[in-house]
Amino acid sequence: MAILVTGGAGYIGSHTCVELLNAGYEIIVVDNLSNSSEKALERVREITGKKLTFYKADLLDKEALDNIFKKEKIDSVIHFAGLKAVGESVSMPLKYYHNNITGTITLCEVMQKHGVKDIVYSSSATVYGNPETVPIREDFPLAATNPYGRTKLVIENLLKDLHVSDNCWNIVILRYFNPIGAHESGKIGEDPKNIPNNLMPYITQVAVGKLEYLGVFGNDYDTPDGTGVRDYIHVTDLALGHLKALEKLKEKPGVSIYNLGTGKGFSVLEMVKNFEKVSGRTIKYRILPRRPGDIAICFADPSKAKKELGWEATRDINKMCEDAWRWQKNNPNGYND
Ligand code: NAD
Ligand code: WQD
Repeated sequence: MAILVTGGAGYIGSHTCVELLNAGYEIIVVDNLSNSSEKALERVREITGKKLTFYKADLLDKEALDNIFKKEKIDSVIHFAGLKAVGESVSMPLKYYHNNITGTITLCEVMQKHGVKDIVYSSSATVYGNPETVPIREDFPLAATNPYGRTKLVIENLLKDLHVSDNCWNIVILRYFNPIGAHESGKIGEDPKNIPNNLMPYITQVAVGKLEYLGVFGNDYDTPDGTGVRDYIHVTDLALGHLKALEKLKEKPGVSIYNLGTGKGFSVLEMVKNFEKVSGRTIKYRILPRRPGDIAICFADPSKAKKELGWEATRDINKMCEDAWRWQKNNPNGYND
């Protein structure tokens, strides 16, 4: 029996594929490569020395999905596929609602048809909006502030409703905080198609000389140094959380929700300093105005995942910076090198 990994060629998906293969799972990847490269999957094979099956297909293509479910013996699904750029979602809401929500509906319809009702879903800390306090627990109020975040909330509710309609559906929702870093081999990592939106790939591209300087979005927040604070988590720790979620699916069917974060917050300037220390490079930066929609501080209470999944992040901020740097240094142009 195999695990279907949607979006498995992407950043988090490819790292999860490595850990799944290392743990002995058989995997089938479905990805339309809209934000990824098939080379990532070649590298996954190279790192693990194991085989995986890949279908280039769109989740919106019901017939293609149906054929995959007919052909393969699929036991459970890990559902990463989706568009994730917050700014783009504001200018292209229809594209985001259509791809993320309709894609998930199509996937669930095909799963239902084939009697596959076990799913792990990639949600995000963005569903907490601007939390009143930190650390953030799973029972905090939900309030997305942009179309991307709203697709995450709609899908969380859709999955909960599915379980209410048929309690054989077995669902684990994982709310990721800020995934960064790369596999320690330096062979796979985050490969943004254009100028990076997120902090760490921006820093690594400044370090490698592709970008001139980092714009720090605001230094007047109510945080120790005035810059935004986030809960950065190593992508391999995050990937390992999915293996724990698969084990959870073997228990009585239900809907379980977990924060995957470290529980520690780092500011933008702390990230710059840590990166400079491990890379030996200087990161030029300039203070810019706040980025609309940003919040001051966000970090998880990850204790529920520790208690119920036996999962905990173990890789520290230096390891995150070290691995992100190795990936960028070895692949200055990402998978295009
Ligand atoms: P990514 O863009 O690297 O990976 C997503 C993958 O899905 C890509 O390979 C893309 O080609 C594929 N895809 C998109 N739409 C598809 C469709 N209709 N059919 C088939 N494939 C499709 O992003 P990622 O960072 O690996 O994120 C994975 C998931 O985790 C996403 O759902 C994202 O919203 C969520 N998430 C990401 C972060 C983050 O900061 N990276 C944080 C929280 C949650
Ligand atoms: C981190 C900090 C910025 C870039 C986003 C999504 C969220 C989730 C994770 C998917 C903030 C600052 C950033 C730069 C900067 N994704 N920054 N200069 O905004 O916490 O979360 O990715 O679900 O939904 O919103 O992450 O990496 O963009 O920013 O100063 O060039 O770095 O202001 O304080 P964010 P990020």
